[in-house]
Amino acid sequence: MTVPISDRLPRIFYGGDYNPEQWPEEVWLQDARLMQEAGVNLVSVGIFSWAMIEPRPGEYDFAWLDRVLDILHEHGVMADLATATASPPPWLAKLHPESLPVTADGTTLYPGARQHYCPSSPAYRERAAALARKMAERYAGHPALAAWHINNEYGCHVAECYCEVSAEAFRRWLWERYGTLDALNEAWGTAFWSQRYSEWGEIQPPRIAPTFANPTQQLDFRRFSSGELLECMKLERDAVREFSPDVPVTTNFMGLFKPLDYWKWASEEDFVSHDAYPDPADTEDQARAFMAFDLMRSLGAPGKPGGKPWVLMEQAATRVNWRERNVLKRPGQMRLWSLSALARGADGIMFFQWRQSKAGAEKFHGAMVPHGEPENSRSWHEVKQLGADLEMLSPVAGSVGEAEVAILLDWNSWWALELDSKPSQAVYQMDGLAELYRPLLRTNVAVDFAHPESDLSGYRVVLAPNLYLVTDAGAENIRSFVADGGTLLMTFFSGIADENEHVRLGGYPAPFREMLGIEIEDFAPFAEDASNGIQTKAGNAYRCELWADLIHAHSADTLASFTNGFYAGSPAVTRNLYGEGAAYYVGTRPEPAYTATLVEAVCREAGVKPPIAAPEGVEAVRRSGEDETHLFLLNHNLREEEISLPRAAVDLLSGERHENSVTLEPLGVVVLRGNFSQW
Ligand code: GAL
Repeated sequence: MTVPISDRLPRIFYGGDYNPEQWPEEVWLQDARLMQEAGVNLVSVGIFSWAMIEPRPGEYDFAWLDRVLDILHEHGVMADLATATASPPPWLAKLHPESLPVTADGTTLYPGARQHYCPSSPAYRERAAALARKMAERYAGHPALAAWHINNEYGCHVAECYCEVSAEAFRRWLWERYGTLDALNEAWGTAFWSQRYSEWGEIQPPRIAPTFANPTQQLDFRRFSSGELLECMKLERDAVREFSPDVPVTTNFMGLFKPLDYWKWASEEDFVSHDAYPDPADTEDQARAFMAFDLMRSLGAPGKPGGKPWVLMEQAATRVNWRERNVLKRPGQMRLWSLSALARGADGIMFFQWRQSKAGAEKFHGAMVPHGEPENSRSWHEVKQLGADLEMLSPVAGSVGEAEVAILLDWNSWWALELDSKPSQAVYQMDGLAELYRPLLRTNVAVDFAHPESDLSGYRVVLAPNLYLVTDAGAENIRSFVADGGTLLMTFFSGIADENEHVRLGGYPAPFREMLGIEIEDFAPFAEDASNGIQTKAGNAYRCELWADLIHAHSADTLASFTNGFYAGSPAVTRNLYGEGAAYYVGTRPEPAYTATLVEAVCREAGVKPPIAAPEGVEAVRRSGEDETHLFLLNHNLREEEISLPRAAVDLLSGERHENSVTLEPLGVVVLRGNFSQW
């Protein structure tokens, strides 16, 4: 049996952020009728309504929201009801100026936009939790209530605060983590540069300093900051759960968002939701959007291949307003990308926002209902079409992915990798991930994300891009994955530091040397624009850039060697048999063509296959339920594509039966139903 996200919710949710407070009441009825017309069954209400609901401290006005929820309910639309705490009303800053956030250089961020609160502020936390309680108290029994939407995009504008209140909270957090100053001094390595602390009160957040701040201090501040926002979320979550324990709770994530450790966050909510705004003008951005979809599916069920359904909480119907140039989605693209999200495990497709604002900073952001007459707009017709499509796709709800490959991602390592004072400042976690993800995307090999300490035994292949920081437990987990027969592909600058961001001594990469069968003598990052070459055993030559490890191969085989410089001839890519498994290592950033060949070889060796052969630009993704699986074929090309089918199958969207092949229109999609495991 597949498990839908919640019994209270429609099988596949469809709708968007709904901000009725921006409109007179007569528009609300019109909205509800249009929602019915478009097949909308869920809207997120009240996200930015704090000042309307509590116009003065402690004075609440719920009448308008009562009316909105009643109208929605009368029209069969459910509410993903916000706790309304994302943008405090101006009175909070007047009453509590200390609740305003401060940047690392001491600049206060004032009201007038949104998210102007310090995550550690007791005043903000108390008022926000009180509002969440009030909302829950009033609406717990409302028949329209389907889910709680806590706050909004935590950390989107203010992910950390350096004010005095935060400094004090940071000290408390450190005290809880380390217990004694000796332990903190040891962990932070304060013998260096005379940084030793002899009183807790001497410790500061990493404010602007003359040069590089202590790396462990910086790393701990990131952990603290992610945790402080999570505390805010938990306070509100607990407040709403008190009144409505059965109503699922979520807060919308932002994909591969560096400031928040989403592994920690996801385990504190009932379902994962995510906002995606890839730039239609940037194909690399689109690939990253898919990567984020796969991460979202994985976050809900770490270590469980295939993950768990999630919800696309926001996307643009047409274009955004916050880039320098806001390119419009071409006809069919919104549908295609929505169905890509569904293919990658989404059980809900939502937008920012329902009706396009006429005032404020987002009036030129696209919406489901445009400024003009909806009937005259192409996007409205697409919105209605998508509503009808999602109705047809309800059998897919609750099913999961089918990945046999996992990419390791640990926020602690990401943070540490990108701290200053490294051999190269040009090494970014996102590039390392994308470099390995791209060939999988191109060949339609399904992939999950996993934390280095989560159960890896369900995967055949594990990819570890630039896993700079690793705990003892993580290192042992990876080692035993390989020893037990797994195939690992690790890239440069992995296994270098422990959780305190201290170098693991004894020869790089100390915890993985034996498993990889190599030792790295030193790193040789390249100057900007410089590059090197690698040559494979078969004699093929490729370019490489960014980084070179000076590798001594012990038990490992050398698959490719550097061609230039003083280390010409030394190993660049190696493979070592270890226990029952194999561990590959890539000590540079090869050009994409080489990485693609290598990733393919690794998958082939481990017996990992795509669900079907498809031309470049055609996405093929399977979702599997207990009784049946669905194969999504999505054509991202602007020309027709024909895919051969090993056997006849029926398209859920059109009801059409396809015998030996299926032809996809430009940007077209089919969702084939059947038992594909034997293909
Ligand atoms: C999101 C936010 C929405 C809206 C949207 C515009 O970051 O949650 O409220 O601002 O972006 O793209």
